[in-house]
Amino acid sequence: MQDQGKAGYMNGQWWKRSVVYQIYPRSFKDSNGDGIGDIRGIIEKIDYIKNLGVDVLWLSPIYQSPNDDNGYDISDYQAIMPEFGTMKDFDELLKQAHKRNIKIIMDLVVNHTSDEHIWFQRSREKEKSKYQDYYIWAKEKPNNWESYFGGSAWEYDEVREMYYLHLFSRKQPDLNWRNPELREDIYKMMSWWLDKGIDGFRMDVINLISKADGFPEGEVIEGTPYTEKAPYVICGPQMHTYLKEMYKKVLSNYNIMTVGEGLGLGLDEARKITSENSKELNMMFTFEHMDVENIGKEKWTEQRFKLKDLKQIMSKWQKGLEHEGWNSLYWNNHDQPRVVSRFGDDGLFWEKSAKMLAVCLHMMKGTPYIYQGEEIGMTNIRLKTINEYHDIESKAAYERYKNYMGYSEEKIMNCIHARSRDNARSPMQWDTTRNAGFTDGSPWFEVNTNYEKINVESQVNDPDSILSFYRELIVLRKSYEIIIEGDYNLLYPEDDNVYAYTREWQNQKILVICNFSKEHIAFQVPSSFDNKENRLLIGNYEGAALEKEMLLRPYEADVFLFTS
Ligand code: NOJ
Repeated sequence: MQDQGKAGYMNGQWWKRSVVYQIYPRSFKDSNGDGIGDIRGIIEKIDYIKNLGVDVLWLSPIYQSPNDDNGYDISDYQAIMPEFGTMKDFDELLKQAHKRNIKIIMDLVVNHTSDEHIWFQRSREKEKSKYQDYYIWAKEKPNNWESYFGGSAWEYDEVREMYYLHLFSRKQPDLNWRNPELREDIYKMMSWWLDKGIDGFRMDVINLISKADGFPEGEVIEGTPYTEKAPYVICGPQMHTYLKEMYKKVLSNYNIMTVGEGLGLGLDEARKITSENSKELNMMFTFEHMDVENIGKEKWTEQRFKLKDLKQIMSKWQKGLEHEGWNSLYWNNHDQPRVVSRFGDDGLFWEKSAKMLAVCLHMMKGTPYIYQGEEIGMTNIRLKTINEYHDIESKAAYERYKNYMGYSEEKIMNCIHARSRDNARSPMQWDTTRNAGFTDGSPWFEVNTNYEKINVESQVNDPDSILSFYRELIVLRKSYEIIIEGDYNLLYPEDDNVYAYTREWQNQKILVICNFSKEHIAFQVPSSFDNKENRLLIGNYEGAALEKEMLLRPYEADVFLFTS
């Protein structure tokens, strides 16, 4: 039997050895020609997912929703959005996935619901009911917090004649977690899904569920009439209490995985949440590396990242959760621009840089996530006007920068092109047929014009494709304990072209070298590796070999294994 190692997969921590594939159902595969991806479409492609070698599917929300925020505004947690199919379809998907040894985790959105959820409908009523206190109401507007999607975070409700809090859109009222009855209802709903046989949850903005007492006013956000809410909503006073309660009452009863989304989450809090002893969640999605272009400032920037900053952030998290807690590793999800356009090169060095980025992430310690299309190197889209964008956040940003910041149209559109969440949401590119094989109908969102070059069909049987490269990386993770267990150490933190690091475990060492530049770059292998026997585990150029002085080719990535 294989060594269990510290990652202890035998004691239920299978998620430490898993690779997760995220599906954004609306854009994955349409099975019935209505232009919208659906559950039957996922079933059609389940063998594709199996072939990739991933262990877990994370489904972005498939619940009933008016789609103000593409399903992150849920109106019924126990019903499927009709556009996506039926509960029977879901049961079939679960069955087909499990048959192939693929687990499914669902998106759990419980910081807020849709305003069309029955709880909110009842909560608005003036008559007393248990729901009155399910949301966060105030007679007078308590502060000027700005919502994440722009505008005030408080909305006046004509029916109840009070204000309610919504950290996201006005159609996403925040739930009042102080109310134990609400919490019980949420736990019941979670258990219902887990009893169905799902394998865990990705928890949307879970570190926002506890708000500071008294809703203190924040600092004015320059140029706007609004104030900063972050210090009063991120990791609020009861957050750990609620997570521990959820663990005790629900999560601990199942052999599942949990990953929380942590907006503005710092290392200490992440460690507290994911430490085994805390009994809260298995891992968190953190964002510091996703804000690397403009650290601590606005997300909407056209600036390009600096490798030194990226290395510093990634290494901080690698070291910070090395022995207590656990990292989730991601470059992409449905809220982020495509990584090959962002940290790589979607022009001449598209293929090399996509592979290099994959190496850089997949050799780190943690659970890797692949977002649909990342495995074929899908790139950002570039639409001409804001009207062609669908994403509520992009539209809000456009208004904000136009009305308050006085940015020029050109500057705003540059920011939207670089950062819009819609970059991730254009339909999956399956083949060279009309609409990239995503739908026979008219797609809900434009297909990227480069689909004839970038698609699954052209890569699936090509051993040198980006897709095959991802497969190889997944196989490596399953074959070498050191990739799961090894300690991480950054080399040359000041180098602005090369990201090099080591992993160490027992008598083995791995050296990962990634050239983030379009140029040939000289790289000096540290003398501690002198005369050590080594083997190339994976690389994106033919015939790479370890030399004392290496001349790395554009976007070259090499991984060497040393055994002493
Ligand atoms: C984070 C989700 O990933 C994003 O898509 C959504 O808009 C917000 N949370 C609000 O639910």
